[in-house]
Amino acid sequence: VNTSDALARIAAIVGPAGVIAPRDAQPLLRDQRELFRGEAALVVRPASTAECAEVLAVCHAAGLGVVPQGGNTGYCGGATPFDAGRQVLLSLTRMHRIREIDPLGFTMTVEAGVVLAAAQRAAEEAGLLFPLSMGSEGSCQIGGNLSTNAGGLAVLRYGTARDLVLGIEVVLPSGGVLSELKGLRKDNAGYDLRALFLGAEGTLGVITAAVLKLLPRPQVYETAWLAVAGPQAACELVARARRETGDQVSSAEYVSRRSLDLVLERLPEARDPLDVAHEHYLLLEIAATGDPSLVRSRFETVLQAAFEAGEVRDAAIADSGTQRAALWLLRERIPEAERRDGGSIKHDIAVRIGRIPELIERAEAELAPLGAHRLSFYGHIGDGNLHFNLLPPVGVALEAFRERTGGALTRRVYDLTAELGGSFSAEHGVGILKRDELEHYKSPEALRLMRAVKAALDPRGIMNPGKVVG
Ligand code: MLT
Ligand code: ZN
Repeated sequence: VNTSDALARIAAIVGPAGVIAPRDAQPLLRDQRELFRGEAALVVRPASTAECAEVLAVCHAAGLGVVPQGGNTGYCGGATPFDAGRQVLLSLTRMHRIREIDPLGFTMTVEAGVVLAAAQRAAEEAGLLFPLSMGSEGSCQIGGNLSTNAGGLAVLRYGTARDLVLGIEVVLPSGGVLSELKGLRKDNAGYDLRALFLGAEGTLGVITAAVLKLLPRPQVYETAWLAVAGPQAACELVARARRETGDQVSSAEYVSRRSLDLVLERLPEARDPLDVAHEHYLLLEIAATGDPSLVRSRFETVLQAAFEAGEVRDAAIADSGTQRAALWLLRERIPEAERRDGGSIKHDIAVRIGRIPELIERAEAELAPLGAHRLSFYGHIGDGNLHFNLLPPVGVALEAFRERTGGALTRRVYDLTAELGGSFSAEHGVGILKRDELEHYKSPEALRLMRAVKAALDPRGIMNPGKVVG
């Protein structure tokens, strides 16, 4: 099959409503951080799994690359196509049906293009909770969440995307459809095939639908903004709160003073809830059921004990939904504050929680001699996941900073993380941005197995070419 015939056949499969004209396709060809400028031979939006399967069959026969894309909110260029001649961008946005909610089984079957916030709302309308939650939830989509094994703000309690899936439907590179949508809690009949596609960033197939786990909806949230003695105190406090609330901690987010300062400086609506400045903060939230006054008093008991243990120095507890939102703003909008400041070099690293204090202390000390920079670090301390971001010195542009010292600083951050037994990519994935890091930090055995899986599932190498290991 020659390329132009194949492209014409693909356009016919999806019909006029499924082809995105070049002038409308521009936003889909750039990644969210504008690190990359992509190109594609064709941009299509199939309306169904059957159409996806037909498109892939044609691409397979013609040897055309397929780059799946959801909400295009990724940070590593994983959803950007890079070939104007031989890659097709496959946007899942038109496949946005909630296929089924099973209130007795606590599951929801959704298509890949359902926006995360819409999935949360559908669960809420059924009186239940879909707990995956992150800053981009208004535009990221379930297919992308699963393909990148997204994390976010409630992993400590509910796990990453991978933990919230019972089954998936996948279009394979050859055009076959693997349908594992039974929604069973128990099924030991053979290998766990779905695990291969979760977090594969579209390099093995296209996830088109999934059965998601739902949970009972918590009735009461308690949220506190805490000045803590340091990272060690923050870790001790998270463990204390988990022990003493029967594991009701739903979020434990660390914020350094430097990140808070960026938010206070760049977002006019932001207010420091405490009178005095501190170096370290923990945003702690519990999600519970039962008598609200009992939940509150238990929460206060935990904080009191932490205060007496010297972990907490000052606290602001939210008394209303508005106050809760104002506290969350201080954490959730750090990435935006960094953008408004001119942007940052991001590092999304993870170590065992107990090693977070050493990671922070050593990173600060070891980066200092390598070149001028400003720090902004914050993140999911309850998961051992920090966003250890570097901003250029005041007056220096991000690009110049990246070129001059960025490489050496990043290498030190990642080497240190590796020395502490951690990961250079906790939740943002690999895509194209961190492909060399994967090569550098993964063991030869792991890389060999990944390549073997890739070759077995996608022998012609058409799925998301050049990403992750491809
Ligand atoms: C976050 O936790 O805010 C994001 O994962 C990090 C970011 O947006 O840079
Ligand atoms: Zn994050």
